[in-house]
Amino acid sequence: MKGPDFAAIAGLIIDDIVLPTGETRMGVPGGSGTHSVWGMRIWSESVGLIASYGEDCPAEILAAFDQAGIALLRAAANPEPTPRCWQVFEFDQHRTEIFRTSEADFYRFQPLVSDIPARWQKAAGFHLIHEAKNIPAFARHLRAGGVDCLLAEPPPTDFVPEKLDEFAAFLPLVDVFSPNWEESAQLLGIDNPDAILARFLEMGVPVVALRMGEAGSLVATAEQRWHIPAVPVRVVDVTGAGNSYCGGFLVGYAETGDPRIGGLYGAVSASFTIEQFGLPVIDGATNGLAKERLVRIADAL
Ligand SMILES: Nc1ncnc2c1ncn2[C@@H]1O[C@H](COP(=O)(O)OP(=O)(O)O)[C@@H](O)[C@H]1O
Ligand SMILES: [Mg+2]
Repeated sequence: MKGPDFAAIAGLIIDDIVLPTGETRMGVPGGSGTHSVWGMRIWSESVGLIASYGEDCPAEILAAFDQAGIALLRAAANPEPTPRCWQVFEFDQHRTEIFRTSEADFYRFQPLVSDIPARWQKAAGFHLIHEAKNIPAFARHLRAGGVDCLLAEPPPTDFVPEKLDEFAAFLPLVDVFSPNWEESAQLLGIDNPDAILARFLEMGVPVVALRMGEAGSLVATAEQRWHIPAVPVRVVDVTGAGNSYCGGFLVGYAETGDPRIGGLYGAVSASFTIEQFGLPVIDGATNGLAKERLVRIADAL
């Protein structure tokens, strides 16, 4: 059986969402990998996630992947119980994440290189959501299998000056790096977005997509730079916007080889993620609506 065209590797989190009104949405799929593959699924019907989760993971969580048409592959080493978090929101969109299970276990039981089956090694694009120090091993393994396009997104906790050499080690091994502005400023000690882009390009990655929240994103290669605006939608919850942007970027870039198209796909994917709490519903109308949004921001450029 063929593996998915686009894949991500990450941990899975069960979210219990508390809205500022006191309403709750209990037990919904969350975590960076989940948001990424939903962002990919806006554009592609062949999408999968390799994730760590326990035996106890509720059937409704697994069913959500099924309903969205997203393959879910369970990693061998699994946190037990499945990582679970309160996501508590305020009216100003501020979010407080409270682990209900061991946070240390969540990081300890991330998927390994050995969790990637040979047929998944042939994906057109792979989103690596992993600690910076582990990205080189994943990148080498996936390249050996023939993956075309690798996008790296280390966790926010990696963006500290002491870990700069870990970034220097993986950047030449991937095709796209997508950090956010504040985290990059913290890592590099530079605030100016153009200077940040220049620095990462110098470190050997061919394409950088710098995420800047409502200001959109800056996509850069050594030769060219584009500003990609955010899609104007009603913002309800920005959780996962960056992950979803990365998922969309990967599909757009892998399919066209054009970094600007990658950025446009990413912005559209993110717009679907931020319109509601939790994940967007993907149905027969989604792809058409996505294409309309893409044309709208492409025309504005
Ligand atoms: N407050 C917002 N208003 C409108 N669009 C947003 C907002 N926050 C995020 N986005 C969209 O999602 C994309 C990725 O979000 P961003 O905040 O840059 O990532 P992260 O929070 O992961 O660093 C942005 O480039 C933009 O298109
Ligand atoms: Mg943000």
